[in-house]
Amino acid sequence: MSVIVITGANGEIGHSLVEYLAERGEKIVALDLKPMSDELSAKCEKVFIGDILDTSILEELESYDIKGIYHLAALLSTTAEKFPDLAQKVNVEGTHQLLHIAQKVGKRRNVPVKFLFPSTIAVYGIPTLEQKMQAAAIHEDQFLTPMTMYGVNKLYCEHLGRYFADRYKQLSHDKESGFIDFRAVRFPGLISAFTVPSGGTSDYGPEMIHCAAQNKHYNCFVRPDTQIPFMAMPDGVRALVELAHAPLQKLTRKVYNIGAFAPTAEEFYHLVQKAFPGASVAFEPDVRRQGIVDSWCADVVDTAAQNDWGWKAEYDFERTFFEYVVPNIKQRYA
Ligand code: SER
Repeated sequence: MSVIVITGANGEIGHSLVEYLAERGEKIVALDLKPMSDELSAKCEKVFIGDILDTSILEELESYDIKGIYHLAALLSTTAEKFPDLAQKVNVEGTHQLLHIAQKVGKRRNVPVKFLFPSTIAVYGIPTLEQKMQAAAIHEDQFLTPMTMYGVNKLYCEHLGRYFADRYKQLSHDKESGFIDFRAVRFPGLISAFTVPSGGTSDYGPEMIHCAAQNKHYNCFVRPDTQIPFMAMPDGVRALVELAHAPLQKLTRKVYNIGAFAPTAEEFYHLVQKAFPGASVAFEPDVRRQGIVDSWCADVVDTAAQNDWGWKAEYDFERTFFEYVVPNIKQRYA
């Protein structure tokens, strides 16, 4: 029985991904630091609760016939700035260990393990706001000088994944596929109706929505003109799974931008007001968090993903609110 491993299964993306893959009959082995709900655990073959660097868990993981790994466990950008040493351990060393597992399992089974890695727009670092607005939507190979620990960690792991896939102990194996088939998307800020993000810097978007849905006031930590790309969670999960299923020979790169919509914080606020009339929001920028999002791109060019594996977002900004967020969130907070 071959399984799919999901690390960070109890996180924002993890929740939706476990449900998506379980519905499609996949056998899931989950790993998370925090205990999962009974409902979510029931969708998995096996749940490991513990640290991504716990060697006893990693050894046990390795004994499974793993066909794919979705390595979602990470400290997000704001938390990583507070705890950079921990971020290095979890984000970089955690990925390194999992790549080793993929390598060993791929070799044992003689079938490459698909390694899906959620990278991020935080890998971009645009020096000034003026350059950011001038550049508008950017390609995968522009402005790769991240200013946060999280961005540095993720960019390095993109390269580490490529190295493991192409070179690491591949000498006696078919160079075309190797033992690891590493693929990554650079996620924009994600919006989920079911979970509230924690520790990220794109969190002002989803936080504004979740506060409004509960009739709570929200102090937005960025300026109204702040612009970065966002995406609805169902599209984010579908992007990962579609990239996993794309034929290898069609892929011209290992790391892809994926876009959906790119509102300013003010536009976010206007739509929140439309969805939840009377929503109370004040803009109170936090210098450090503002600096982080100002260094991220205003939008992305995702033509490589469109051309290579047919990527297309199904949820635009309005649809995200009125067909996904509002109906689900009202139920959640009812
Ligand atoms: N959502 C992430 C963060 O804010 C960026 O990918 O850290």
